[in-house]
Formats: sequence, structure tokens, C-alpha cells
Amino acid sequence: MSEQKVTFRVFRYKQGDTAPHYDTFTVTVNERTTVLEALQAIRRDQDGTLVIRHSCHHASCGTCGMRVNGKEVLACVTNVLELGTPTVTVEPLQNAPLISDLVVDMGPFYETFSQAHLPFVRRSEYLPDAEVAEGVPFHMRFESCIECGLCVSACPVVASDAEYLGPAALAAVWRVVQEPRGTEVPPLLDWVNSEHGCWRCHVALECSEVCPSNVDPGGNIMALRQELVRRALGLSHG
Ligand code: SF4
Ligand code: SF4
Ligand code: FES
Repeated sequence: MSEQKVTFRVFRYKQGDTAPHYDTFTVTVNERTTVLEALQAIRRDQDGTLVIRHSCHHASCGTCGMRVNGKEVLACVTNVLELGTPTVTVEPLQNAPLISDLVVDMGPFYETFSQAHLPFVRRSEYLPDAEVAEGVPFHMRFESCIECGLCVSACPVVASDAEYLGPAALAAVWRVVQEPRGTEVPPLLDWVNSEHGCWRCHVALECSEVCPSNVDPGGNIMALRQELVRRALGLSHG
């Protein structure tokens, strides 16, 4: 496997710093090296104070979201050489409080899922005519969204309106409206039918473009709007 050197320009910030800055590192990569692996190599061989966050290494946990060359990605599945740039700029997600270097505080973002009444893991009942496996009373259904926050970082409306509910929460609400499982839908629709709710979106679909899990939050927002119109016309039960 051939190797080559790539320059990484990495955003740096520690609590108490007056301003962030960028540090430059050279890393030897091959055709398979991901941005996350390169950052781990920097941390291991050059600067152990570099703060990064990751877990699964396979686009499942949603923890390694960051901006690479200005675009929101999961670093663990972003191939360095396929970026095609001699210098790779790595920055933290936007629209979230910065903790250190490439790590932001996801707490406020996760809180929006609670507000949307979509817990991270939902119990899934068997269909009435489904064959029930012996000893398995229920399945746990994992929703498509991996709570990575890329959509919120990419959303220009979140950047200009801190109260905007944001693409992930709005997509979560549409998911609940589709399958409420006991959740009261009308209050949720009232919540998104607001100045800072789904009417604030300007439909450029940056969120759907960066979503690594095909949730299509922008499309879900449009579906929510249609549901609100149906409700206003008395054509919906919601
Ligand atoms: S489509 Fe709406 S939610 Fe998605 S990025 Fe654009 S403004 Fe934000
Ligand atoms: S909707 Fe997509 S981009 Fe947004 S948090 Fe969920 S998986 Fe990530
Ligand atoms: S490390 Fe889990 S999504 Fe990248």
C-alpha cells in the first residue's frame, strides 16, 4: 500500500484561551486512512493534548462529527486521500458550545430529542400477526438518526436563531407523529408550529445533504408543514 504525507490544519482551543488558533501537523497516510485515524496518530505521536471524541469507528455511534475542509462529516468514515486536498482543515461542529479542540458539548442538542418525545431507544411491539420468537417478548427498535449533530452544525438558521428547534428535533417530531406509540401528538404539533419551529426553515436542505444516516431532516420538516396545513384545514386527526 503506497504512503504519502498530508498536512493537517487542526482547530485548537482550550478553556481559558483568549481565542482559538490552528496547529499544523504532518501525517503519513495510505489509501485507507480516515481522518479519525490521522487525528488519533497525531494524538499518539505528536500532541497528546489534542482532544477528539469517537467510539465505534464505523458510522454508528455518531460521536466523531466534525467539519473537514468546511463540511460536516463523520471523521471515522472520511477517507483522507479522497478529499483530494494537500492540506486538510479540521474543525469542531458549529452551533454547539465548544469544550476543547474538536469536541463540542452535545448536551443541549440531546435535550431537544427529549423535547421531541423521541427517546434514543424505543421499544418496538410485535405486529399483531407477527410470529413471536420464544423467549423474546419485544424487540428494541433503533431509530435511523444517530444523534451526530451534523445537520444542526450545517444549518444556517440555527446559526442565526438560537431558539430555532433545528433539523434533528423537527425530524424526530415527524417520526413521533408517524408512529406516536402513546405520545400525545397535538401538543407536539403545536410545539413545532411556532415562530422558531418548522416554518423558520428556509428549505435549502443543507441538513439533508450532510446527514450520514439518510434521515432527510429537511424532507421531514416539509412533511411536518404539510401535516400542519392538513390540520389547519381540518383534514387531519392530529
Ligand atoms: S433545510 Fe431547514 S433545517 Fe435544514 S439546514 Fe436548511 S434551514 Fe436548516
Ligand atoms: S438527522 Fe442525520 S445529521 Fe441530524 S443528528 Fe440525525 S443522523 Fe445526524
Ligand atoms: S466513531 Fe462512531 S460514528 Fe464515527
